[in-house]
Amino acid sequence: MTPLKDVKVLGIETSCDETAAAVVVDAQQVLSSVVSSQVDLHARFGGVVPEIASRAHVELLTPVIAQALIEAGIDDGHVDAVAATTGPGLIGALLVGVSAAKALALVWDVPFVSVNHLEAHLYAAFLEEPDIKLPLVVLLVSGGHTMIVLMEGHGQYRLLGSTIDDAAGEAFDKVARYLGLGYPGGPAIDRVAMEGDPHAIAFPRAIMDEGYDFSFSGLKTAVVNHVRKNPEVGTPDVAASFQEAVVDALVTKTRRAAKEHGAKGICLAGGVAANSQLRERLLDAAMEDGLHPFLPSRSMCTDNAAMVAAAGWWRLQSDGPSPLDTGASPNLKLPTI
Ligand code: KG4
Ligand code: ZN
Repeated sequence: MTPLKDVKVLGIETSCDETAAAVVVDAQQVLSSVVSSQVDLHARFGGVVPEIASRAHVELLTPVIAQALIEAGIDDGHVDAVAATTGPGLIGALLVGVSAAKALALVWDVPFVSVNHLEAHLYAAFLEEPDIKLPLVVLLVSGGHTMIVLMEGHGQYRLLGSTIDDAAGEAFDKVARYLGLGYPGGPAIDRVAMEGDPHAIAFPRAIMDEGYDFSFSGLKTAVVNHVRKNPEVGTPDVAASFQEAVVDALVTKTRRAAKEHGAKGICLAGGVAANSQLRERLLDAAMEDGLHPFLPSRSMCTDNAAMVAAAGWWRLQSDGPSPLDTGASPNLKLPTI
């Protein structure tokens, strides 16, 4: 198949609490990427409130798209395709982006492309490093998902492992909330942990010896129990030791998966991939094992629409346009082989 060329895709992302739009050419050249975070709206509730998220997307999406088009220099003509995240995510939030994308595709008479949010996270690395060698092991860690994916080709994924309870980001958010560090918890723990000793408290690492699955709910309970029994313990030490336990589990299993599947490289994706300690440890592990490390920039790890536009380009290339009756799917799974 001849690759699509000079195709400008408008990507739209509204699956959770970021309203984002971006214009990307051929899944490589980012002409614009606008992200409007709703963090301040949800912070006082300690987490994302779905109804507030949907309403905010309705208000923010049009100006965000307009800004993305202006920054991309598209003032008179239009883009060649419109891609939107159709799942997984919050149903009301997803519907805002999906409806807008379909309306624009209809008005401009260009293809609409349905994008899986998890696949979009996988494509974030390709935007910055187009020459990534496959097979690749990707550790996808976000607020809702924690999985190790073997990427054998474009669109060809094998799910090697995932969390059996809480997602890594969810564990960060819950522990941060318990420690009174605010929302979102990941960046807060990342910051506070820098002042603490990661070996101060030996928190448990669950199911380390077998397979590639993760479990973080016992760790969360262990943190709560430890703080209750030892109220004098410093928050930086708790945060650093908790982070160390999460990172240890993530890096150990990703590394093992790469070795056992003959991967050429390891890649990070998803919001938790912005974590300083995780980035440092995965980089060291890759160096030691002779693997190429691919760490997308922090802004590309958290939710954005450039990754949606990139994944949309690949899907357009492989499957063609999506039907306009494609709905939003809150529980959409990563398509695996
Ligand atoms: O991918 P993402 O932006 O949204 C989802 O699709 O879930 O990920 C958000 C998650 C949140 O749980 C947030 O606390 C976490 O990523 N996160 C971090 C860091 N930055 C964001 N976790 C640990 N360290 C960070 N620096
Ligand atoms: Zn995400």
